[in-house]
Amino acid sequence: MKIEEQKKAVRSGYDMDIIPSDLATFGSEAKNLLQDLQSRNERMFLLTFLVVNMADTKRKLENDVFAAAGIAQKNNCALTRLDYQQEAGLMSSVPLGENLIPIQRGLTTSSTAIFIPFITQELFQSGAALYYGLNALSNNMILCDRKQLKNPNGLILGTPGSGKSFAAKREMTNAFLITDDDIIICDPEAEYFPLCSGLTGK
Ligand SMILES: Nc1ncnc2c1ncn2[C@@H]1O[C@H](COP(=O)(O)OP(=O)(O)OP(=O)(O)O)[C@@H](O)[C@H]1O
Ligand SMILES: [Mg+2]
Repeated sequence: MKIEEQKKAVRSGYDMDIIPSDLATFGSEAKNLLQDLQSRNERMFLLTFLVVNMADTKRKLENDVFAAAGIAQKNNCALTRLDYQQEAGLMSSVPLGENLIPIQRGLTTSSTAIFIPFITQELFQSGAALYYGLNALSNNMILCDRKQLKNPNGLILGTPGSGKSFAAKREMTNAFLITDDDIIICDPEAEYFPLCSGLTGK
C-alpha cells in the first residue's frame, strides 16, 4: 500500500514521503509488532473475545448490552453485536473448545495473557495450613503452613489500627485449633491476655 501511494505521489508530481497519515500510523505499528515478535520472544495468537449478556427481561438485557458497550468503548474497544449469530456465539462461549465465530484479532503473547485468568500466584498448601486471607487478584484463599516454607519467620506490618493485632490473634487461634504447636507470646502490654486465658493458656 505504501509503494502504491508513493507511485501515485511521484506520478502526481509531489514528494513521495507524503503518504496518508493512517498508513503511516499502521506502518509504524506493524514495525513495532514485528520487532516484538523478533526480539522479545513474543508469538502471535488469533483471539476471539466473546461477551455473553443474560438477563431476566428484554429491557434489562438491552440495558446490560448498552452498559457493556459503554465499558468497552471507554477502553477504546468496539463490541460488535452478533445479530443472527447469537446461537453460534453462545455455543462458542461455553467451554466446548469450539469457536464458531469467524471474527478474530491477532494479538501478541503479552496481550493474550491478559485474557487468561490463571496468571496469579496462588499460595494454597495442604496439611496443617493456616488461613492468611484472600488473594487480592483471584479472591482465592491463601492457605499456608509456615513450617513448609523456606523461611518460616513472619512480620506483620501495617498502619495503626489496620488490624495487625487482630491478624496475629486470628493466626494464633487458627494454629491453636489445628496444630499441636506451642504458642509463646511476649506481650509487655498484656494485650493478648484475654486471648491467652480464653485458650486456657498461662
Ligand atoms: N479482619 C477484620 N475484620 C473485622 N474487624 C477487624 C479485622 N481486623 C481488625 N479488625 C478491627 O479493627 C480494629 C483495629 O484492629 P487492631 O487492633 O488489630 O489493629 P492494629 O493494627 O493492631 O492497631 P495498632 O497499630 O493500634 O496496634 C479492631 O477493632 C479490630 O477488631
Ligand atoms: Mg495492635
